[in-house]
Formats: sequence, C-alpha cells, structure tokens
Amino acid sequence: MTVKPESVATDPLANLERFMPSGQTPMLKHIGVYTSGGDAPGMNAAIRAVVRSALHHGLQITGAVHGYKGILGAEWLPMDSRGMGNILQRGGTILKTARLPEFKEASVRARAAAQIKSAGLDALVCIGGDGSFTGARLLWTEHKIPIIGIPATIDNDIHGTEATIGFDSAVNAAVQAIDRIRDTADSHDRLFIVEVMGRDSGFIALETGLAGGAEEIFFADNPVTVDDAIDHIRRGMAVGKKSSILIAAEGRKPGRAYDLAESIRKKSGFEAKVCVLGHVLRGGAPSAFDRNLASRMGTAAVEALRRGYCDAMMAWARGRISGVPLRDVIGKHKRVPDEWIRMAQTLSN
Ligand code: ADP
Ligand code: F6P
Repeated sequence: MTVKPESVATDPLANLERFMPSGQTPMLKHIGVYTSGGDAPGMNAAIRAVVRSALHHGLQITGAVHGYKGILGAEWLPMDSRGMGNILQRGGTILKTARLPEFKEASVRARAAAQIKSAGLDALVCIGGDGSFTGARLLWTEHKIPIIGIPATIDNDIHGTEATIGFDSAVNAAVQAIDRIRDTADSHDRLFIVEVMGRDSGFIALETGLAGGAEEIFFADNPVTVDDAIDHIRRGMAVGKKSSILIAAEGRKPGRAYDLAESIRKKSGFEAKVCVLGHVLRGGAPSAFDRNLASRMGTAAVEALRRGYCDAMMAWARGRISGVPLRDVIGKHKRVPDEWIRMAQTLSN
C-alpha cells in the first residue's frame, strides 16, 4: 500500500475563519499596495504577486510610493502587469519606503484615511514589519479601511510567522561575508568580531553564527558575556585553534562591535579586528526562498481580501502559508528559541 503524502497546498486561509468571519469587508474593486519600514530583499516579488493576482481577479490596483508618507501625500502609482516585469530578482522596493513617525498621531492617520478614500481604494496590502502593521491596524480600527499585512523585514522579528521576506537573503549574504573573513582570519591567526543587523532581534546573528561556525554569538536573548567569549577563545587556543570569529547583533546591550572588541582587549589583551556588515545585508537579489515566500504571501493576501478577511497577516508556519489576526502579532517579542542557542554553543566548541 502506498501512503499518500499530505498535500502542502491546502487552503492558506482556512485557519482565519476560526478568528474572524469572512465577508467582513465590502465588495472589492480597487486595492492599494505599499511597502513600509526597512526595505528587504523580496519586497518586489511580493509587490509583483499582489499586483498580478489582483489583476487576474479583475481588480484595479494602485501603489502608494514611500509607504505612509506617500499615502499622506497622495503619491499614487497605477500598477499594471507589464510594470512588474524584471523585478522578481531585484532587491529593494520599486515602491520605495520611508519612515513617518507622525503616523502615531491620530490626526495624521485621519488625513491619510481621507486620501485613501478619495483615491477610491477599498482595501490595502501593507508589506512591512511590526511598526507598519501597527499603523495599518489603526487604519482598520479607526477608519474601517480593510488591510492585510505581508511580513517583510530582514530581522525576522515578527511574531506569528516562522519566516519574514528578506531574512533568508540577509542571512545568506552574512554567511558569504563570514566565509570570506574566515579565510583572512585563518591566514593571519586573527580574532574577528563581525557585526550584523538586528536592532531588536538576534535571528540574523544566530543563523549566521550557526551557518558560519562562529565561536560565540552575541545578541539580546543570549546571555553570553565577554568573559565567556574570552574563556571560549582560550579553550580553543589550548587545543591549537589559531583564529576565531565572534558574531554580534547591532542591538546587543551594552554596546556595538567596537565596544565589544575594546572590552575583550582590556580584559584579555586579545586584539580583535572588527567588520560591520550593516546595510550590505539589506541589499542584493533575494534568495529563491524569499522570492517564493513573497509570491505565495502576495497571492494569499489578495485572496484574503477577496474573501472579505482583513486585520490579518499572512504567515509562514510548518511549511505552509496561513493567516493570523494582526492583534496576535503586533508588539510581541519573537524570541530566538533557547534550544537553538544551546545547539550553536555546543557545536562551536
Ligand atoms: P517596521 O514596519 O519595519 O517595523 P518601523 O518600526 O520603522 O518599521 O515602522 C514603519 C512605519 O510604521 C513608521 O515610520 C510609522 O509611520 C509607522 N508606525 C510605526 N509604529 C507605529 C505606531 N505605534 N502607530 C502608528 N504608526 C506606526
Ligand atoms: O530592517 C531592519 C533593520 O535592518 C534593523 O536591523 C536596523 O537596525 C534598522 O533596520 C536600520 O534601518 P535604517 O538604517 O533604515 O534606520
């Protein structure tokens, strides 16, 4: 007897019905799409999927350039299928992005809502991170503008989804850099500290450290100390290790990679070279995983709006797309699992 494998293509929105009834929103004719917060590789693939799915279903689609800033300033851009050509493989976002701190003020959101209504948009797709979704949710709760979120940030710090668009690409870029640094570190018998992005989150640091075989990984959820790192380096030297690489997330308290190098030097006399990868990790072509995640989420987001769902985010969990209510996503800290931290420590000995 052959066992039929479980299909992975089940209805991505089936779980949303548990949280909210479908058909909450008016009949759709015209939707808007925007990118907001930090850009991430794969945002263009998400825009393409939203635009082409919308057109496939006979909907009109308009982009807002520069996120909330563009909505407020009515920077509208009509979108068509041809305009989506040749962007699947491009990093950044063709719709541009921006930060607009004033969007935290109710009066500014009221002006934005008026612009959305006067542009004739029935609903929006927001491609961004936690902050962008907080603004999006307020547009729904205060002004009844239906919104679906697509999680896109290299930090992977969005609760409710195992992966965000851009994270895989950023980790691959960081790992390529680590491999290069290891060549020179090894040739000179040197200690290196490599700083990766992740203001509030250690996912890039952990995954990069694990894939790059780092000796120690510093990030907020990991209680490793400077003394631990020095002990680790000394233990390595005792068994003949001549070079080491430490990874530090930029948001690690109390300081950045240069502060860490200084503390290590003061406590042990070890001189460390520092390499800050920074915004390099945000650019470049998205990985195949990020392109396809974006294509799947973009398609599901339009389908969610068509079925009358809103106030929800598309998520990736256990190899599938699903939907989760925004109220269960926003403002929650997604912790790097402790067992991953322990594993990285065990394997780096
Ligand atoms: P991300 O979406 O990647 O988390 P930010 O935190 O910078 O990026 O947020 C992007 C934008 O979302 C902000 O510039 C602001 O316009 C809007 N935003 C963020 N937080 C809020 C909030 N608490 N209320 C309303 N809008 C917000
Ligand atoms: O995209 C998220 C993030 O990369 C953080 O890790 C980082 O601190 C921040 O964006 C920096 O963004 P910006 O340079 O746009 O302020």
